[in-house]
Amino acid sequence: MKILFYDAKSYDRESFSAALPAFPEVEIEYTKSDLDPRTAALAEGFDAVCAFVSSNVNAVTLEILRQKQIGLVLLRCAGYNNVDLEAAEKYDIRVMRVPGYSPEAVAEHAMALALASNRRLYKAYNKVRENDFSLSGLMGFNFYEKTAGIVGTGRIGAAMCRICRGFGMKILAYDVFPNPELKEFVEYVPFERILSDSDVISLHCPLTDSTYHLINIDTIQKMKDGVILVNTSRGALVKTDDLIEGIRMHKFAGVGLDVYEEETDNVFEDRSDEILEHSTTARLLSFPNVMITSHQGFFTREALSSIAETTLQNAMDFLQGAASPNDVKRA
Ligand code: NAI
Repeated sequence: MKILFYDAKSYDRESFSAALPAFPEVEIEYTKSDLDPRTAALAEGFDAVCAFVSSNVNAVTLEILRQKQIGLVLLRCAGYNNVDLEAAEKYDIRVMRVPGYSPEAVAEHAMALALASNRRLYKAYNKVRENDFSLSGLMGFNFYEKTAGIVGTGRIGAAMCRICRGFGMKILAYDVFPNPELKEFVEYVPFERILSDSDVISLHCPLTDSTYHLINIDTIQKMKDGVILVNTSRGALVKTDDLIEGIRMHKFAGVGLDVYEEETDNVFEDRSDEILEHSTTARLLSFPNVMITSHQGFFTREALSSIAETTLQNAMDFLQGAASPNDVKRA
């Protein structure tokens, strides 16, 4: 089975090459191009394509893939909001993902963002490098005995709940399907109470029609003053213009974002030589209490090797016609 691996980075080659010997039926060819309607035709002669969160797997992409006899899209990520599942069904293309490669990787990064923005670590780091040892602008608050509000308590949200418990926080959660494993130390409440009672709010639900712009000016106004907001899930859960308005209203002690709305344009690219002055991300970065990272939550050694192994096992299940819990189906 031949797989065309789109948007291949050196770390992808490393982790997949290390896992490949256990899957002798699978061959991989890597390309730096990402999958979109312009590059889908490169898949001629392959059986499957491997794509990522940054790929544009829309109806046009899928139509071209079908013309090239591709029967499988292997997503080497958990989220699949970038795939037109209706079109995949129409063109009879199986879509598989890696649902839970290392929830702790993302949850640990979410807590890192919460702590870094609370204690202004990025500012402290730069100050000390400039020989400025004053503490002005660095005051934070204790997380101990404060309230964490976790939105979405699947794999990553549950890991975040466990981390918050370790910090001695009270944990409120909102989920359409409460997680029974958490009931001993997590109180499920309506979303409104997450907003009104939390000192730290962390988003861990998927991006769907019902979660699009979940954080907007109405929901921001209902939050406590001095709240910390963390988003490691998907950028469009937060309406960026409204977030900027909220920051201007001094609603937030800190904002930590690993994902942002403009991400599909610049995900994982080095854009250090470009002027991004018109982007909303650049506007966000102009605030001293905002910390942004470039979708690196998943980026740990353990997560990358787990992603490679599960993706290759997904390929084998496809080859053998086996059912899999990693199939992505239309709701
Ligand atoms: P999961 O599927 O295990 O959990 C998601 C939870 O959200 C489920 O419990 C579900 O019931 C809940 N949910 C669904 N709709 C909801 C709604 N309207 N309101 C509240 N809760 C709702 O997913 P997992 O593995 O925990 O991942 C969560 C998200 O994290 C992914 O969808 C993805 O967008 C993001 N992610 C980010 C990464 C990063 O590197 N920053 C890496 C991996 C995932």
